[in-house]
Amino acid sequence: MTLDEILANPETRTHVIFDNLIDSVLRSRRSVSRDPDVDHIHREMILQEPALRNPMYRRLLDGSLSTADHHLFMSEYQNSSVKHFYVTTLRKALDAHQDDTWQQYIDHIIEEESSPRPHYASFGEFMGLCGATLLPPGAPARRYSQAFDDGYTAPLPYAAGYALGVEAEAGYQIALLKKAYHHAFPENVDKTEWFDVHLQGQEDEHAESSTSLLSSVIHSPDDLALAKKGFKQFFVDVGEFMDGVNLLIEQRNARATH
Ligand SMILES: [Fe+2]
Ligand SMILES: [Fe+2]
Repeated sequence: MTLDEILANPETRTHVIFDNLIDSVLRSRRSVSRDPDVDHIHREMILQEPALRNPMYRRLLDGSLSTADHHLFMSEYQNSSVKHFYVTTLRKALDAHQDDTWQQYIDHIIEEESSPRPHYASFGEFMGLCGATLLPPGAPARRYSQAFDDGYTAPLPYAAGYALGVEAEAGYQIALLKKAYHHAFPENVDKTEWFDVHLQGQEDEHAESSTSLLSSVIHSPDDLALAKKGFKQFFVDVGEFMDGVNLLIEQRNARATH
């Protein structure tokens, strides 16, 4: 199933939507690394990650969020994964390692994140269309932002593994958000370029660049172990962020009814 078919599909069972998204975005990836260990990290390890089906993703897909809940999610997401990542994490990453391959890789990602204009500006505009305002970052956004900084400034093989985790999951996450917002804000999804600047092969390409970065920084079994550790840590961090926002939404709604 293509993403357009998934968007048009009236299926409401979330486990089926998860399966379709995973098949369409992740299982269809082509092999780009001759190194079997790196290929395994790129295309296989991600499929085992429970964070792909975390409860916040489920709620984004199952129609159970109110408009105010969606707004809170968008604000936390923009504050961390979109804006902080671009404005702060990628700059810290450039300062963290002088290695040429790393510098070129981060430069490339900064360029991509700026094209055709900073992605946080597009996402901010989409939030505006949906009636969402950017709130000060809550605890989940602050923790997730710190986690990104820690991941990208860690020792090189770990940082490269972490970056591959980010890029390998990004296409899936953004496809899932498109499906969620296609349902919740149908009139706005096509008015923004934010989805298209990620979903027309860009995230696959970023994951492939991350894969070649990884091949060039792994020189020993210890490096490989560190890279896997970094990769897996990203999925812990994204899972914690999603759980954190889910809890924030529940807490706010509980306060509102008392
Ligand atoms: Fe982006
Ligand atoms: Fe990316």
